[in-house]
Amino acid sequence: METLENPKEVQRLADLLRCEGKRIGVVPTMGYLHEGHLSLVRAARAECDAVVATIFVNPTQFGPNEDLAAYPRDMERDKKLLTAEGTDYLFAPVKDSLYPEGFATRVEVDRLTDTLCGASRPWHFPGVALIVCKLFNIVKPHFAYFGQKDFQQAQTIRRMVLDLDFDLEVRVCPIVREPDGLAMSSRNAYLSEEERKQATVLYRALGVASELYVSGERDAAVIKARMAETIGAAPLGKIDYAEVVDYDSLHPIDKLEGKPVALVAAQFGRSRLIDNHILGEPFPSAKM
Ligand code: PAJ
Repeated sequence: METLENPKEVQRLADLLRCEGKRIGVVPTMGYLHEGHLSLVRAARAECDAVVATIFVNPTQFGPNEDLAAYPRDMERDKKLLTAEGTDYLFAPVKDSLYPEGFATRVEVDRLTDTLCGASRPWHFPGVALIVCKLFNIVKPHFAYFGQKDFQQAQTIRRMVLDLDFDLEVRVCPIVREPDGLAMSSRNAYLSEEERKQATVLYRALGVASELYVSGERDAAVIKARMAETIGAAPLGKIDYAEVVDYDSLHPIDKLEGKPVALVAAQFGRSRLIDNHILGEPFPSAKM
């Protein structure tokens, strides 16, 4: 695997690969890789000729009091994991090469970003849209891989790709979980032993929502209350939301029709954890 730091160098590489008729797949990450990230790399490896992973802890998507400086990092370990998955290139830029002095451009995706995580973190999705837009212009991929774990992020990027005519396909891959159901996340690393145990309430809340839906419940208020109750059983968790929204608009719905999605978010110690489940799809069973 070749590591590149300079955006211009990556653009030249992308031009060359495209001239050779190679299909380029990009897997954007903030590093501290786990099986969730690696599942995206595998998906890219399976359908692309050149797989480009990116590692960049993007400052514009973090709020003033968030964990930017403390975000977990281990570049050497990440490189080994990416190499083992057959990644061709790693783009690991430094901050100033992406946000030079005088940087002034914003990318905002309206409507999809004012609910859920966007309601409590209004700076987040403009930051994500901006960096992903830049990565697309640098890597020039044919395919871009994201995880369903960050459902609102994936829908926001899909919208941006449509609206801004990016000539690429977005692939959204399933949520990879720990054996007890907790969705994998780099931020799980911050959890104390007790927080880690209790954090499974998020997964369990989605299980409750799934069961209610399968048994015919269509009143969102009932499902939301039961999810909140399940999360509330963890004394170390502080719920942010337990919502049921429309798959496309991401806006809360009262009556469950079409393709509803249940989403949850809660703070456990220093970690803000999120999870979701598309109601009506098979609920992933825990392995312990
Ligand atoms: P990061 O949190 O590192 O996640 C990188 C990608 O991995 C995202 O598409 C995310 O949805 C996916 N991912 C994370 N946990 C996953 C899991 N348990 N199962 C499946 N996929 C999972 O998301 C970001 O970084 C950033 O916002 C980024 C898109 C890189 C922009 O800075």
